[in-house]
Amino acid sequence: MLSPASQCLMRQTDMLAEGRWLLVNPTDTAIFAELPDTVSGFHQYFDQYQTIAKRQRGRHHFGITLPEDNEKYDGIVLYLPKAKKHTVWMIAYLATQLKQEGLLCLVGENKGGIKSSGKLLEAVGERANKLDSARHCSIFATVVSESKTFELDKFVTKHTVQVPGKAGNIELQLASLPGVFSHGELDAGTQLLLENITTAPDGKILDFACGCGVVGAYLAKLNSSINIQLSDINALALHCSELTMSKTEANFNVVASNGLADVQGSFKAIYTNPPFHTGLETDYTITDKFIRDAKQKLLSGGELWLVANRFLPYAEQLKQSFSNCKVMAQTSKFTLYRCIK
Ligand SMILES: C[S@@+](CC[C@H](N)C(=O)[O-])C[C@H]1O[C@@H](n2cnc3c(N)ncnc32)[C@H](O)[C@@H]1O
Repeated sequence: MLSPASQCLMRQTDMLAEGRWLLVNPTDTAIFAELPDTVSGFHQYFDQYQTIAKRQRGRHHFGITLPEDNEKYDGIVLYLPKAKKHTVWMIAYLATQLKQEGLLCLVGENKGGIKSSGKLLEAVGERANKLDSARHCSIFATVVSESKTFELDKFVTKHTVQVPGKAGNIELQLASLPGVFSHGELDAGTQLLLENITTAPDGKILDFACGCGVVGAYLAKLNSSINIQLSDINALALHCSELTMSKTEANFNVVASNGLADVQGSFKAIYTNPPFHTGLETDYTITDKFIRDAKQKLLSGGELWLVANRFLPYAEQLKQSFSNCKVMAQTSKFTLYRCIK
């Protein structure tokens, strides 16, 4: 089914039929079936990419940016990201992917802030005009007259966080980008998780839903010879995790995966502050499924460390999957569980 933003965009099919167009981070994949094959997709979220790439081979790309030798477009539509600073760097980047006088459009829902975001397009074009509004969404557009240069590194922040935990005061160097969870900060739930971990086992371990790689970086400080896999659905998170982990001595690899679907192997331990949002909506199903699948990914005696908002209903599910499951710590907002297979 088409999302409201795609329904709004479908009113511009004449525009999308002329020349080569790119849709960036569309909130649904159904729109591609309604458009000519001159319209392709660039996805920073692996679930959307996987769904559509199976049906339309060669028309879609997953990653933080497009391949270097990619042919330029006549028009690009960016679906409004959740974080304003993510919108800012994506506009700067996508402007470099257009032919001269190419059209850069931004589509999104009123409740996501599209009305105040249209003017962000003026960083790369003269005037941002509203093309249309419908279904509680609007589309803004600007003509990009000259192709500027873009350096992703300029938008990557390097910051230090202190974790005053049971293993002592540990300092972490993290790389992050706007659009990555808890950008530039240490989430209070993640802090509770880290404060209570005192050792990291040798052998394969997993940082599930890794964000900028903060959990992996912490585990690498506890044991520099860990062998850790970091997984996330978000290409920005994977890029930042790669940067964060490359500053440690750990043996690591990052993998794009929706839930545990593309995570290979069995682990001695899994650590996570799991997601409870899909886009703007609250969504418990990702973590429900993760809890059901996690046990299969653990070796016998393996441990799952999971922190979650106190109000989230995970205790029962954890107890159904693991007979040995304890609350290790709790604050007014978060609960930390440790379950053993
Ligand atoms: C609460 S954040 C935790 C990030 C990081 N571990 C930390 O503690 O700062 C959850 C992460 O889950 C990722 N995520 C969302 N949906 C996912 C899914 N279906 N599969 C895997 N990861 C997902 C998000 O991109 C985000 O990085």
